[in-house]
Amino acid sequence: MTSNTRRTFFKIAVLAIAAFFVFIWNKLILQHLNTIQHSKTVVPFNKNKVVSFYDNYIVVNQNETTTVLSTRCSHLGCKINELENGKLVCPCHGSEYDLSGKVIKGPAFKNLEVIPSKVISNGESIEIGN
Ligand code: FES
Repeated sequence: MTSNTRRTFFKIAVLAIAAFFVFIWNKLILQHLNTIQHSKTVVPFNKNKVVSFYDNYIVVNQNETTTVLSTRCSHLGCKINELENGKLVCPCHGSEYDLSGKVIKGPAFKNLEVIPSKVISNGESIEIGN
């Protein structure tokens, strides 16, 4: 092995190791840090709207079911606050989720967090969190 070949092999090995650690950091650590505790809060409920965005929550009301999702993208935590063609789209890197919070398109691979909730006050409000 010449010194040039050795040097090239060493560079490739260092890049491969760095790529491995970036992959592990993203997949195993950052995406799991996105799960946060939600203290109890109450927001108004508009049963005529399919999707309502609040500061930390997305309320989805369809098929007689109300689901509350976190606005934090499961990739790196950007705030999702727009609906495009029936999908929740992250403005940072373009991950897409369906209205149940399931990932449709990456880079995120983890679904949006579903937050426990219940409709209260004769259907006027939603209590979110535990
Ligand atoms: S933070 Fe949402 S796709 Fe990267």
